[in-house]
Amino acid sequence: MKKLLFASHNPSKVSELIRLTSSYLEIDTLADLNYTKEIPETGETLEENALQKAQTIYNEFSIPCFSDDSGLFIHALGGEPGVHSAHYSGSRNHSLNNQLVLDKLKGVSQREAYFKTVFCLVFNSEEHIFFEGIVKGQIASEPQGSGGFGYDPIFIPEGHTGTFGTLDAAVKAQLSHRARATQQLIKFLAETYK
Ligand code: IMP
Repeated sequence: MKKLLFASHNPSKVSELIRLTSSYLEIDTLADLNYTKEIPETGETLEENALQKAQTIYNEFSIPCFSDDSGLFIHALGGEPGVHSAHYSGSRNHSLNNQLVLDKLKGVSQREAYFKTVFCLVFNSEEHIFFEGIVKGQIASEPQGSGGFGYDPIFIPEGHTGTFGTLDAAVKAQLSHRARATQQLIKFLAETYK
């Protein structure tokens, strides 16, 4: 089975990625490499951040790797929190970030939103490729459930009545933004490395 380094310190993303790729790929993690330095993400788009993260790790280890930059985009908030999802409230605290979203949407009936993931696979210092995945849904009126991470307790994916926080992890693994980006990555790897 092929091995690929995942350039992320986020344990929730790492465990989702291991689950999503388990039949096709062995995921090497930064923890496996004892790498603990913070990875900068100073871009204005998910693509810029994903590229920056993967290039940082490529420059460190000189081996191909891929990164994930993701965000929640809410129509009624002009696309916020978007690329600023990780520290929307000024902190990385998920409950505070969720509460800020709910406060801003108080009395707002239009609650359409989507999660988007961008992966960047870096092959060497010159070549990289992006993959993306989106899942549409609605913002709940209050947090529900404790599954997943980040904004999962307030996001109800299309076709469901409960948030990702209440749904089984297997459901998120089938239809999430990250699952869809992973399908693209795996298809690319299968076609490129036959
Ligand atoms: P980043 O991709 O490391 O910049 O982090 C993006 C932020 O978006 C995370 O800290 C979470 O708050 C949120 N996020 C990303 N993916 C998910 C997800 O699958 N569920 C819920 N929140 C997510």
